[in-house]
Amino acid sequence: MSYNEASRQDLDNKQFYIETYGCQMNFADSEIVNFILMEEGMKPVGEPDKADVIFVNTCAIRENAETKVWNRLKELRGLKESNRDLTVGVLGCMAERIRDQIIEQEQLVDMVVGPDAYRDIPRLLRQVDDGRKAVNVLLSLEETYADITPVRTSGNGVTAFVSIMRGCDNMCSFCVVPFTRGRERSRPMESILDELKQLSDNGSREETLLGQNVNSYRTDNSDFTTLMDHTSRVDPEMRIRFSSPHPKDFPVDLLHLIAERPNLCNYIHIPAQSGNNEMLERMRRPYTREQYLELIDTMREIIPGLSLSTDIIAGFCGETEEEHRDTMTLMETVRYDLAYMFAYSERERTLAHRKFEDDVPDEVKKRRLSEIIEQQMMIQQEINLTEIGREHLVLVEGPSKRSDEQLCGRTDTNKMVVFDREEYRKGDYVVVEIHDSTSATLKGQAKHKSSIREYYSEAVPV
Ligand code: SAH
Ligand code: SF4
Ligand code: F3S
Repeated sequence: MSYNEASRQDLDNKQFYIETYGCQMNFADSEIVNFILMEEGMKPVGEPDKADVIFVNTCAIRENAETKVWNRLKELRGLKESNRDLTVGVLGCMAERIRDQIIEQEQLVDMVVGPDAYRDIPRLLRQVDDGRKAVNVLLSLEETYADITPVRTSGNGVTAFVSIMRGCDNMCSFCVVPFTRGRERSRPMESILDELKQLSDNGSREETLLGQNVNSYRTDNSDFTTLMDHTSRVDPEMRIRFSSPHPKDFPVDLLHLIAERPNLCNYIHIPAQSGNNEMLERMRRPYTREQYLELIDTMREIIPGLSLSTDIIAGFCGETEEEHRDTMTLMETVRYDLAYMFAYSERERTLAHRKFEDDVPDEVKKRRLSEIIEQQMMIQQEINLTEIGREHLVLVEGPSKRSDEQLCGRTDTNKMVVFDREEYRKGDYVVVEIHDSTSATLKGQAKHKSSIREYYSEAVPV
């Protein structure tokens, strides 16, 4: 038996379980790891107590994200006590920053693998089997996992995330991502299009292209707008979304493309972070409030009915009451359909950690955050009330959370709609008339099945 056969055998048929924290990018990465492990003959299982190997794919974006992971690792140590052969590994964004703590101080885990080293996992697993701890947290300038077909073991089979680039070069002063995920690099367009084609062949209907700053997607033969042009042609019945663009260099030609193509969704997540110019400068976000608002106007002019969401940080270093109010008024002016709102959490290695003081007291951060959230909830409620009486083309994702008798799915504008099941099924495009709403969900009545081409050639422009 050759060495390779012998070493293959030890992983063959081992059962693994991956638990994922953090952003969509991490979820997409877990699907890459699925492929790498399954190539070795390993089998995914749905519960941790059935697994020989448990991976926790971690997030470091804010302190509470890390705390959640630490607590979970302590729980998993319990499982390890009752099963001596269990291997526990840490993947993702916490890997590099705290590898020493993870392995030495806590004795919690056997292996640590950073986001660019997933191809090395089989070797590292064998090292653990030999009784050694295993670490690879090297970041790469080239790795895009372009030749790997993600294996989507969870999920609804109708919507999927597709990584188009990795890393980030922006260095916003509050953000740890450039340190956890390294330099920005783009995945070749052909590899992205191949994956979309496969998804389409397998019945998937809505794909979200992922990158930390998708506007800077660039390869020898493509930029982001060119990529979107090609992706929209893969299957006219397949919706395309993307996340996230940066306000500093949003391509206007992309707006025209979205307006023209029915399967490019009328929804843009465009993180503002703050509504005050001094704060934006301290955050190293190279745009002003005025430029941001101008961009929003342009977006809405070119794409009527556009739905918008954002990310906001409350209580960043040195934020005064007045600067906080600028964020409130920015949000009031834009009237976002959805917002992800966070209290600032200092992260080691970032510019803010080195240069500024995290001087807004916790109670003040919390109070400002609740003011922001409260205002946003009211705005969402008002916006969603205006949806009553309208029709939307909804892509059915599956049964609703509350009842099997109801289905849920999203509008083109990314709003969740719940309606009675009747004869409709997952993966159908259904025309739904909205008759009720909350700040988070629309409720409606299905009228009939349709398709993107049918619906948008009939729909009267707003
Ligand atoms: N690359 C994406 C954002 C990834 S992180 C983008 O630029 O759009 C998602 C969000 O987390 C950020 O937009 C920011 O609002 C928030 N965030 C990042 N670092 C943070 C920190 N240190 N404290 C609080 N929120 C933070
Ligand atoms: Fe972080 Fe800024 Fe990069 Fe987003 S663009 S990942 S906020 S550094
Ligand atoms: Fe995502 Fe968290 Fe890493 S938000 S990029 S998993 S730090």
